[in-house]
Amino acid sequence: VWQAIATTANELIFVTMKISLPASSPLTDDSFIYGAATAAFQIEGAADTRLPCIWDTFCAKPGTISDGSDGQVACDHINRWQEDLDLIEHLNVDAYRFSVSWPRVMHADGSPNPEGLAFYVALLDRLAEKNIKAFVTLYHWDLPQHLEDAGGWQNRATAYQFQQYADLVSRTFGDRVYSYATLNEPFCSAYLGYEVGIHAPGIADQKAGRAAAHHLLLAHGLAMDVLRKNSPNSLNGIVLNMSPGYGRTDSRADQEAAALAEDFLFHWYAEPLFNGRYPARALAHIPDSAHPPVQPGDMEIIAQPIDFLGLNYYTRGIYHADPDTGFGETVPEGAPITEMGWEVYPQGLTDLLVGLNSRYQLPPVFITENGAAMADTLTDGQVHDDSRVDYFQTHLQAVHNAVEQGVDVQGYFAWSLMDNFEWALGYEKRFGIVHVDYDTQVRTIKDSGKALADFFGNRTQKT
Ligand code: NOJ
Repeated sequence: VWQAIATTANELIFVTMKISLPASSPLTDDSFIYGAATAAFQIEGAADTRLPCIWDTFCAKPGTISDGSDGQVACDHINRWQEDLDLIEHLNVDAYRFSVSWPRVMHADGSPNPEGLAFYVALLDRLAEKNIKAFVTLYHWDLPQHLEDAGGWQNRATAYQFQQYADLVSRTFGDRVYSYATLNEPFCSAYLGYEVGIHAPGIADQKAGRAAAHHLLLAHGLAMDVLRKNSPNSLNGIVLNMSPGYGRTDSRADQEAAALAEDFLFHWYAEPLFNGRYPARALAHIPDSAHPPVQPGDMEIIAQPIDFLGLNYYTRGIYHADPDTGFGETVPEGAPITEMGWEVYPQGLTDLLVGLNSRYQLPPVFITENGAAMADTLTDGQVHDDSRVDYFQTHLQAVHNAVEQGVDVQGYFAWSLMDNFEWALGYEKRFGIVHVDYDTQVRTIKDSGKALADFFGNRTQKT
């Protein structure tokens, strides 16, 4: 189907809505890296050919996933990866960001699973043939269940297990990888998974959440050591999600609530990475009994230099002071929102980048995810997702504005390559620039995919 739609970039000229930036923008230079992103559990399926992970267990619990679905089949990418790579190529991307499934490449005794590893090596080799850079994420939330049974990320030993896994993967992949991210969004793993319990493994306990966060950060640092040794030429770093916080009013109390929320939720990860400490304001907000289990030397391991910072941006947060909880969040009335209920606020991306750049000594930044779930309809082989095109247009403009203000952004990835398993929201929320029919597994490039392909393909060499 997609072949009929877009066999060559030329055939994309009928794109109705275009994405464009000023011709002088560094974002229109062909050295700026553009890509699309996915994650193993969300697309692969074929769950019977790997070990169970925490998301399999979580999905099996009634009431956890809004449509009652799971990752058993997903986009069946394990069986359709070759056509998916052809699809990626037709989008004119420079890079493809995907994650490796830990439970697919390692047996429970820690020994390698050769079939699982071979899948990714074949994928990487095919990407290289197509001249598409591989941005590999090592951990996108699919912890092997047997490790959760031993305490998961609450257990310090899991960080050392992760180091072994990173060692195996980076030795096996050799020089095929352009960039490694150790973790994707540790906030979601720790906070959503262990502190509020709406993600796997479904634990709601602050002490557990803060311990998990610390062990994830430690795992990142331990993995950086092996990546630097095994893969010295790749860009090795981490991917964080962040939503800048704004006060609901200009009152001092609301402004402070916003700063606290940012520190408690997001700088909890960034501050250790860049400054080797947890943010003081957030620490003071947490009872001593839930403080992270830091051992001597940990913060140095965590704060070692990284080659890049990946940032996932979707929306902002608006906060007000709350005497009981410190801060509360509201979505402004009348604001444009996506199907996730997230406000569309491109200025937040500029503010986030500029703010981080003044707070920390940043390495080069890649926007590793940005995109929107919209109410798509597939009619006669077309998805006219104008609101998603508009989302990409305004957010790329927001990145451009940040670059103009001195932030070193070197790449941008659309989330997501294709519709997929949106975690606790199942298959109902569609983020793809390619539509997936889950009954037939037919892929159809949406108008947003065509508009991005057109924009990516029309860049010129300026530097
Ligand atoms: C961030 C996560 O990395 C990804 O897995 C998820 O699907 C998107 N955000 C959208 O929620």
